[in-house]
Amino acid sequence: MLEGEELMGSLSRVKRVKDFSELDIEMLVTGECVALIVEGYYSAVDSDRLAANVLKSKRVENYTHEVSDEGRLEEKYFGVDRLGVPFNGLYKAKAGDGKREHYYQQAKQSIQYLRGLASPALTPIDRLRLELDERMSFGATVASFEGQKMLAGIVRITRSDLSYLSAEQPHFDALPEQFARLDAQLAANVYLKVPDKGGELELWDVPPLGPLTTVPADWRSELPPSLRIKPLKGDMVLFNCRRPHAICEFEGEDRITAQMFMGYCSGQPLQMWN
Ligand SMILES: [Fe+2]
Repeated sequence: MLEGEELMGSLSRVKRVKDFSELDIEMLVTGECVALIVEGYYSAVDSDRLAANVLKSKRVENYTHEVSDEGRLEEKYFGVDRLGVPFNGLYKAKAGDGKREHYYQQAKQSIQYLRGLASPALTPIDRLRLELDERMSFGATVASFEGQKMLAGIVRITRSDLSYLSAEQPHFDALPEQFARLDAQLAANVYLKVPDKGGELELWDVPPLGPLTTVPADWRSELPPSLRIKPLKGDMVLFNCRRPHAICEFEGEDRITAQMFMGYCSGQPLQMWN
């Protein structure tokens, strides 16, 4: 963790607001702001309803990541489950293997399914999409990569007993340029259910990384001290996800968040996807 003056310098670039503006988004893009916390973005009642419906859903699946084990690629489970298919596991999918085709096929249905679980409220991601479109000068739209409409808005459930697996090493999220060339990639997380102890978002205030950057196996030990953000239920946190980040280990009940990526290109609509 950061200490003393260094901590104060980075923390002053964590902005807390009750509502966000275009300027706030631009400050995340330029790096003037490391993280934006929109307090109470989604009400406690709406958060509880959506979290309870997600936990009851039969469509929740394991969120696995491809990892290389002695030269072999394996799908590894890190204790995170999800509703909706994320695109970042499909970057290396081969033409004709059906994986990206499956992603595009489920996109519209997944958005509608989540909408049903949040009803009669909007999903927090639907609300964010509307407000970004209203507030950004060039608007905001669900991305089309490879000429097909993306999914925008997934829900992730992190299991407390396995939460240490997401805490060990930081990672960063950067869309490969074959899909879109972006000036910046932001992430939005809305916290529907938060643990009492732990579960902070850990961020490293270092320059954002490009999609082709390779990181050392023990990245944490080579990074400067981190800063930690402890969101409350209903808060939304936006940050540049090309910076290293991790979720701290936690105890107690599972942690549930709604999530979306936003790609920024100067003079163009924000592109939104998962
Ligand atoms: Fe991430």
